Amino acid sequence: MRSIEEIREQINDIDSEIAKLLTKRMDCIREVIEIKRENGIPIFQPQQEKTQKEMLKDIYKGTAYEEEKKDIFKEIVEQSKKVQAKELLSYNIALIGFMGCGKSTVSAYLQKMLAMELAEVDEMIVEKEGMSIPEIFEKYGEPYFRRCESDMVIELQKRELTIISCGGGLVMRQENVDNLKKNSRIVLLTAKPETIYERVKNSTNRPILNGHMNVEYIAELMEKRREKYEAAADLVIETDERDIQDICEELIRRIH
Ligand code: S3P
Repeated sequence: MRSIEEIREQINDIDSEIAKLLTKRMDCIREVIEIKRENGIPIFQPQQEKTQKEMLKDIYKGTAYEEEKKDIFKEIVEQSKKVQAKELLSYNIALIGFMGCGKSTVSAYLQKMLAMELAEVDEMIVEKEGMSIPEIFEKYGEPYFRRCESDMVIELQKRELTIISCGGGLVMRQENVDNLKKNSRIVLLTAKPETIYERVKNSTNRPILNGHMNVEYIAELMEKRREKYEAAADLVIETDERDIQDICEELIRRIH
């Protein structure tokens, strides 16, 4: 049997190899960044990630610590995406749109695809105030909530490489749009009133729809807000009957 010193020596050699390989890998990433920048190729290449996953599955299948090794690779890929996002995106991505248009779902998915930070404005307000949105509306009224939103948008100006998921009424105030625009691209997600209704009909967390949970009211309010949503948006993406990957790929392809 080998002595522990011998084994440790081999581990050191291996670590040194891994360290050098990582440098080589990051150098490749740097080249990829340059090519993507020059040719306007999107950061996220789903096919490339899929190919790598398949390769790892083949190599590690049935070997010891299969999951742990895959996790290490996941981290490597994550860091590569972060480096690419940092180099290729110099702005935050703010998602806006009517309640139930998919802002939270799309934000969470994008965050994974691009390895960016996530800021859920509503959640941050709930945390700061120590109350749910319906409680804030009930206790202090809507104008107070709207002020919380505006304060949060100002605070978010310090953030970089962040996906900002905005509450549905946030861009009704022009000052919020102006502040978001300082360092974000604004993406409007849309859906038909019928689709929205299906997505939010069981929600008890949206005071604006209290007592009005029906397609007609949703359509009416959406129409009232439409002009402001469209004026704020740098990019509009429809979400009806589409899967999340498809929506996010379109967004990444079109955002520049
Ligand atoms: C609101 C939308 C909600 C939340 C609040 C008010 C609105 O966010 O900010 O209930 O006025 O449209 P979601 O769009 O995430 O539901």
